[in-house]
Amino acid sequence: MQTTYDYLIIGSGVAGLNAARLIPQDKKVLLITKKSPWECNTFWAQGGVATAVDDEDIPTHIKDTLVAGANYNDKQAVEILSKNSLKAVKDLISAGLQFDLNAQGKLAFTREAAHSRDRILHADGDATGRMIHYFLIQKFPHEMMTDTVVADLLIEDGICYGAKVFVSETEQKVIYAHNTIIASGGVGSLYKYHTNSTTIAGELQGICLEKGIPLKDMEMLQFHPTVVKGTHFARKPLLSEALRGEGAHIVDENNYRFLFDYHKDGELAPRDVVSRAIFDYAVKNKKGVYLSFETFEKSFFKKRFPNIYSNLKELGFELPFERVPISPAFHYTMGGIPTNNDALVNGMKNLYAVGEAACTGVHGANRLASNSLLEGIVFSKLAIEHSLKNNFKISYKNYMKPIKSYTRNKAIDKEIKDSLRKIMWKNAAIVREEHKLKDALAQVNSFLKLDVGRLLYLRLLTARQILQSALNRKESLGAHFLKKD
Ligand code: SIN
Repeated sequence: MQTTYDYLIIGSGVAGLNAARLIPQDKKVLLITKKSPWECNTFWAQGGVATAVDDEDIPTHIKDTLVAGANYNDKQAVEILSKNSLKAVKDLISAGLQFDLNAQGKLAFTREAAHSRDRILHADGDATGRMIHYFLIQKFPHEMMTDTVVADLLIEDGICYGAKVFVSETEQKVIYAHNTIIASGGVGSLYKYHTNSTTIAGELQGICLEKGIPLKDMEMLQFHPTVVKGTHFARKPLLSEALRGEGAHIVDENNYRFLFDYHKDGELAPRDVVSRAIFDYAVKNKKGVYLSFETFEKSFFKKRFPNIYSNLKELGFELPFERVPISPAFHYTMGGIPTNNDALVNGMKNLYAVGEAACTGVHGANRLASNSLLEGIVFSKLAIEHSLKNNFKISYKNYMKPIKSYTRNKAIDKEIKDSLRKIMWKNAAIVREEHKLKDALAQVNSFLKLDVGRLLYLRLLTARQILQSALNRKESLGAHFLKKD
């Protein structure tokens, strides 16, 4: 008789690992991850964890989140996020996570764009995600399967029985679970230029669509303003917003800070505004755009941003003296699998979605910087609390039907995948036009008629949903910016 797990967790970022940490040891828990556990967006997160600094700061943190989100956020979810932030962060600190401290030995808070005060906690200077990831991996108390790719969720009548997975390109396995938690991240690799782990490609979102779970706000995608331009890496090197929070400037070739022509807050305007302004300025003026660090002392820079310093040195930049050519790139999925405030997927009894995969509504039309690690921490906790109370048990089901292979023809699938990335970047990125979205949709629909492998098929379903959602939203809002034809 096959094991039924109490929990199946899909994904090894902050949301999945924190959920695992909070599940009592006597429960049978399996966490599966597509490649190694390090292949997740948390590992690459630089800036930090936003949190209300104290009880008095909660209303301001809520307000900043709503303003950045163009007031399209779910206000109740934002309140939950902010009100739970202090406790969730304290809980991690008591469990042993170390954030950076200031000269007085107190927590060091930094500033990022659209925050009205310093409230971002960071670790190892500019490697906050990586430090949280190390910490949560060390604390991981359950069973983990790496190199395990979800091919399907076993869903019937609002109940999830677990998942079918590929444990190799040809071998399938069925995993049964009383509770399933999707923590598999957003859709980064659907875009040619992105800051995400290359494993993050929206397949679970595609499965939800197949199962009749409509995704929410998939047109709401965030483009980070500052990645290093011109590198050959699939994942573009990020230049954390915290650099601007500490005084870095965005300039053109003549060192002109053009962002003030677009927004009164210049470099610290909301992320969607800054990305669009860089894009617009570069296209209109045919000029290069740079991040300049001339306000920094070298010793401060090296201490505060040690990883960016050494990564950029490897790329040939001598910081803080040299400015770095930048462009925006895809960064974060605000939309996703719709959940309630307990992280339970809408219409489901025992399926949860947490972190970037979920659409809790906290980010609205544009996520406030560093609210993402916070969301992963807070809503994974709420999911576990709910599931422990709910105590849902599945009854055995036979779901052993074989599924399509991993990839049909690797070379053809790769060609389509690469075309898809280019199409999404060209037609559905920072500035959108109806005719370009329609062109992209037609191309994605034609790919969907081909005999492609299972994973590519799921990515195509998700890409199609992004395009349809973008076409359905007729006016610009937050990160969805529509240029009228
Ligand atoms: C950054 O360090 O700029 C990224 C932080 C975030 O995405 O919120």
